[in-house]
Amino acid sequence: MKPKILVTREIFDEVLDDLRQHFDVTDNQHDAVWDADELSARLQDKEGVMTSIVDRIDAAVLARAPRLKAVANIAVGYNNIDVAECTRRGILVTNTPGVLDDATADFTWALILGAARRLTEAEAYLRSGQWKRWELKQLLGADVQGATLGIIGMGRIGQAVARRAVGFNMKVLYWNRHRVAPEIESRCNATFVSKDELLAQSDFVTLHCPYTPQTHHLIGEAELKKMKRTAILINAARGGVVDDAALVKALKAGTISAAGLDVYENEPNLNPELLKLKNVVLAPHIASSTRTTRFNMAKRAAENLVAALTTGNPPDLVNP
Ligand code: DGY
Repeated sequence: MKPKILVTREIFDEVLDDLRQHFDVTDNQHDAVWDADELSARLQDKEGVMTSIVDRIDAAVLARAPRLKAVANIAVGYNNIDVAECTRRGILVTNTPGVLDDATADFTWALILGAARRLTEAEAYLRSGQWKRWELKQLLGADVQGATLGIIGMGRIGQAVARRAVGFNMKVLYWNRHRVAPEIESRCNATFVSKDELLAQSDFVTLHCPYTPQTHHLIGEAELKKMKRTAILINAARGGVVDDAALVKALKAGTISAAGLDVYENEPNLNPELLKLKNVVLAPHIASSTRTTRFNMAKRAAENLVAALTTGNPPDLVNP
């Protein structure tokens, strides 16, 4: 008898076919949204589950999944999973590092350039028929080339963002829990500074850290006040790293100049004030969403689940 697994969201057919070779799969190719009760009911007899970031795998759900041995998250972030509780129950948890670095870094640059050059504001202006003529001072933006980029979180994605800054001839500062190796610093042409220095000196501050209790509201009112009035904040990491209410206040008051956001507190119900602001570029959590990357994320999660339930040794284990 094959082990029973659950795939909580729609995934690529090819990946599902691979999973079916190893497991008795309950899928959700209709992409129905399940609440905690429905999820728990479906997990009752399952040994493995492939989750997305919107599935909360918390202590209550785990308590109702007595046979569960592995959770494979289709994401690099895994703040939707209570890893400590999984560890206590002997459940392996995996993520998908590496496969989404480039797509996420590219999208971060889309936000940097879009916010600097007021792209969504310009498009709305044009679509609404307001454009009557060329004007010298029309929709003036900020220069990216030669500016200072501050990267908070110098893991794989932060590094990929830094490498792209070389083409824009930027000065790159970074702040991270630990200083990275000198080879990485020189490859990224990046200088380690304190968080306050980074906030004070950067024209663009971009976030690439995980969401943890330590990074909750890492950027709040006090931090926004330390930034330049001309600065632009970019968040393609996780909602909750930024205090969205404080950000709205800062964008309205001109404490900073603009923001480019892919992630929010309480997704998808973002702070309604954000929708009213012109000086923010908004995207619906799609930084990793290229055809190849999302396929590779699902494939990597499936490989992790197969390894977890067959060898007990998945490549991307996140339990300590
Ligand atoms: C991740 O991998 O954590 C992304 O946010 C999901 O798109």
